[in-house]
Amino acid sequence: MKKILITGGAGFIGSHVVRQFVLTYPDYQIINLDKLTYAGNLENLKDLEDAPNYSFVKGDICDAGFMNDLFLKHSFDGVIHLAAESHVDRSITNPMAFVETNVTGTVTLLNAFRAHCNIGQAIFYHISTDEVYGELSNEGKFTEETPYSPNSPYSASKAASDHFVRAYHETYGLNIKLSNCSNNYGSHHFPEKLIPLMINNILNGKPLPVYGKGENVRDWLYVEDHAKAIDLIYHQGRNGQTYNIGGNNEWKNLDLVKLLCQQMDQKIGNPEGTSIKTISYVTDRAGHDFRYAIDSSKLMNELGWKPSVTFEQGLSKTIDWYLTNKPWLDNVTSGAYQTYYDAMYK
Ligand code: NAD
Ligand code: DAU
Repeated sequence: MKKILITGGAGFIGSHVVRQFVLTYPDYQIINLDKLTYAGNLENLKDLEDAPNYSFVKGDICDAGFMNDLFLKHSFDGVIHLAAESHVDRSITNPMAFVETNVTGTVTLLNAFRAHCNIGQAIFYHISTDEVYGELSNEGKFTEETPYSPNSPYSASKAASDHFVRAYHETYGLNIKLSNCSNNYGSHHFPEKLIPLMINNILNGKPLPVYGKGENVRDWLYVEDHAKAIDLIYHQGRNGQTYNIGGNNEWKNLDLVKLLCQQMDQKIGNPEGTSIKTISYVTDRAGHDFRYAIDSSKLMNELGWKPSVTFEQGLSKTIDWYLTNKPWLDNVTSGAYQTYYDAMYK
């Protein structure tokens, strides 16, 4: 039986990756290691609690002693590393937390892997972001050859962790894989990020804060399609290689928020145009990257991946999930979230 460690499996993307692996590979043992920060939530994995091939361990990837013990106890065949501080705005107010988890944590994990896993056989797969490439103007797309040019403390910390993973491949011969993905959306997304924040605010009749003029562009991918790409790259991606993952689905923030307003008004029975009127233009994010766009042709041509869900379907499914899981939303927006929101938006 193969043993795979997934870090950050209680977070947004991590919970979808855990589900993808636990349900698709009953003969694998999946161990989910997560610190359960504000962004980690075991409610995201309630349906898997009793699965015989799944277990959860609470722990911090920065804790070298703990990580060594874990790797000694289990002889992992592979690691899929998602644990991270992931929100750009938080990285602007507290960069050090991003250095700690994303850089120190990744290197601590690499050291445990190197000390205890079968080098040359076991796989270390690092999940990263398209933000490491910097920003685009109206033209072009990021390819795997685009030079790194991170602009935010978040993307700088992810770029550093990518470099360490590649350095451990070159220096110590680790089998590594990397992927750099665009903006994900879907269920269990913490409402500090654009789409779930807007859904939550519409439901609560709060203003919809659009940064600057809302002209920045992001490429959106349904999270389950990302999880399927990760499955494919883990099993069939080439050693030492990077794969870009994107939805080929670019939206200006303002257009996206307007579409969301229309779909939400329809679904909750608001008169047409109700939510759009609550859009509020707020101070722009410092160093706000203008546009991201991903060329996923390497992944498509080499491994045959393509997104399976259109944006309209994905967005509709996402809104439906939030409407039927109000207690989840109420739970994650109580307490510390209010303090974050007030400091960020008032
Ligand atoms: P998230 O913030 O929802 O989840 C991160 C998870 O990591 C949480 O469960 C948290 O508890 C855990 N964690 C944080 N610090 C930890 C530590 N020190 N030790 C152990 N666990 C810790 O993030 P997400 O949006 O699901 O992103 C997951 C990964 O995918 C990240 O590496 C992120 O950079 C990358 N990524 C995200 C997106 C996106 O659109 N969200 C796109 C591309 C890449
Ligand atoms: O591109 C991949 C990245 O996408 C991931 O690596 C990050 O982990 C993930 O958080 C995401 O980063 P972004 O900064 O693009 O996502 P966010 O949802 O924070 O913002 C999306 C866009 O919406 C961005 O241009 C900023 C804008 N925005 C965001 C918020 C939260 C607003 O206009 N208003 C808001 O309130």
